[in-house]
Amino acid sequence: MITVVGSINMDLAVETDIFPRQGETVQGKRFSTIPGGKGANQAVAAARLGSRVRMIGAVGNDSFGKELYDNLKNEKVDVSGVVTTTNSTGIANILLHNRDNRIIVIPGANYDLSKEIIDEHIHHILESQLVMMQLEIPVETIEHVLTICQEKHIPVLLNPAPAKNFRKEWMDQITYLTPNETECEFIFGADWETVLKEHPNKIIVTLGSEGAAFYDGKKIVRISGYKTDAVDTTGAGDTFNGAFAHAICSGNTIEEAVQFANIAASLSVEKFGAQGGMPKLDEVLARLGGHER
Ligand code: RIB
Ligand code: NA
Repeated sequence: MITVVGSINMDLAVETDIFPRQGETVQGKRFSTIPGGKGANQAVAAARLGSRVRMIGAVGNDSFGKELYDNLKNEKVDVSGVVTTTNSTGIANILLHNRDNRIIVIPGANYDLSKEIIDEHIHHILESQLVMMQLEIPVETIEHVLTICQEKHIPVLLNPAPAKNFRKEWMDQITYLTPNETECEFIFGADWETVLKEHPNKIIVTLGSEGAAFYDGKKIVRISGYKTDAVDTTGAGDTFNGAFAHAICSGNTIEEAVQFANIAASLSVEKFGAQGGMPKLDEVLARLGGHER
C-alpha cells in the first residue's frame, strides 16, 4: 500500500491564445473545472497503474470537495483518510497559454490537514510500503509524518513542490527527493549535477522533456525522456512521481523506475488536464517496449 499525504485541489483552468498584459482584458478560449492538487494527482497516477493507494488529505464542505472526493473514489484510491473541514476546498487557478502554464494555488482546506488528523490515521501510515508527500500542506504536518516514518523505518518519497516550503534538515528523513531542475537549484543553491553527487541514489532530478537524472555513487545516470507532442504539461511531474512510486514498490531499481516514470509522464502530457492523460499500466508497457534508449 502506498499512502499519499497531500493536497487535493479543484483546478480552474483557463485556456487563452492571448496572454493579457497588466490592465488589459482579453477573451479566452475555454474554461474547465478539473480535479487536481499535487497529492491527489500523484495518488491517481499510482492507482491507475495498479498500485493500492490510500490518500490522507482534506477538502472543504462544498461542491468541489464532494466532487474531488468522488473522483478519488472512482479512481480506486482509498479515501478513508480524506477528511472534510469547514474551510473551502483548495483550488488552483491555472492559466494555459501556448502549452505553458502559470498556476496560483489557494490552499483552503489543505492547510487544515493537521498533525492531529495524521495521528487519527496513523494506522494507515504504519502499514505503508511507501509514503508520498509534496509541499502543499502545512510544514508541521510534513515534519510530523517524516518523524513517524523515520521511527518506523517507512520509506518516504518527497516531491519538493512548491520548493519554498522545503527544509534542508529533512534530507536524512527522506528516501527519495524528486525536485525539478529549478526546485533543485533553488533548494540547494548549486547546479543540479553538483547537488546529485552529494546525495547518491536519493535525489532524482526531473528535467522536463529531457527526462531525469540521479547519481548512483559512481556516475550521474541520465535517463532521456520520451519525446512527444505536449497538449498540456500540467501534472506531468505528478505523473512522474506516482509512476516512480509504483515502479519502486513493484521491485524495480531507481534507473528502471525512472525510465518507467518518464514514459508515464510523456503519455500524461498528450491529454488535457492534470489527471487527463495519466496512463494505465498497459499503455506504459506498450510505449516502454518500443522505446529505445
Ligand atoms: O502539479 C500540478 C498541480 O499543482 C495542479 O493540479 C494544481 O492543483 C497544483 O496543485
Ligand atoms: Na495531462
